[in-house]
Amino acid sequence: MEFSEKEVQLWSQQLENKPAAEILEFALQRFHPRLAIAHSMQIEDMVVLDIAWKIQPKVRVFTLDTGRLHQETYDMIDRVRDRYGIPIEILFPDAAEVEAMVRAKGMNLFYESPENRHECCGVRKVHPLRKHLAQFDGWITGLRRDQWTTRAHVPVVEIDTANGGILKFNPIVHWTQQQIDDYVKTNRLPAHALYAKGFTSIGCLPCTRPTQPGENPRAGRWWWEEGSKKECGLHVAEPQEIKNKQLD
Ligand code: ADX
Ligand code: SF4
Repeated sequence: MEFSEKEVQLWSQQLENKPAAEILEFALQRFHPRLAIAHSMQIEDMVVLDIAWKIQPKVRVFTLDTGRLHQETYDMIDRVRDRYGIPIEILFPDAAEVEAMVRAKGMNLFYESPENRHECCGVRKVHPLRKHLAQFDGWITGLRRDQWTTRAHVPVVEIDTANGGILKFNPIVHWTQQQIDDYVKTNRLPAHALYAKGFTSIGCLPCTRPTQPGENPRAGRWWWEEGSKKECGLHVAEPQEIKNKQLD
């Protein structure tokens, strides 16, 4: 399906101040089953899934298994599957790509340079995502504007040019941490075990540490990178990706 920039901007404006349930209803009614939630097992995605599942119990969900996740994240995948009775599509990186990368640069290449880190995120996250999204008209995320400066202007719905021009819905983009916490409490949602250990944003094991009180919640992601944008390319295209697109 092709979407015009004008049409999608209009939808985004119309949905801007709507509750997440209304945004998800809009998306699911029009695009299910050619639409899926990208679920990282973090609390934002638990909220998005809970709201979506109440609208469409067969909502499609996928998670990117980079091969470097925490055991607690794997435990959470099973908990989510059991709670909602839905299959979670697990996406793996291309084995040959991983083999070539670690043979050339080592298992822990990401600590050595930002280029290596982006290469690893590319191979383990961005490429499998792109491949999977090729079958869809849209995807749904748990992005929030107050997470980081790179996310301050994320719209409710946009055209994802990095992934073939499909739609990207961000239904809780305007939510605060307090709203998330309240929803979780009221609806008794299970939470990833690492939150109780001081983690405030949870990615791969070697690239995430707990944060201290007062630190930005994303400070524990790729903590060794000075002045990092704290993005892996799933949502904000990396300089190389932008360059490649201009060359296409
Ligand atoms: S990241 O780009 O830094 O890794 P973040 O952890 O903030 O992203 O999560 C933002 C959104 O990206 C999540 O709400 C989810 O929709 C998607 N996402 C992140 N990691 C994964 C994953 N491993 N599998 C599926 N979706 C993910
Ligand atoms: Fe690799 Fe770390 Fe990115 Fe995970 S977060 S894909 S381990 S660089």
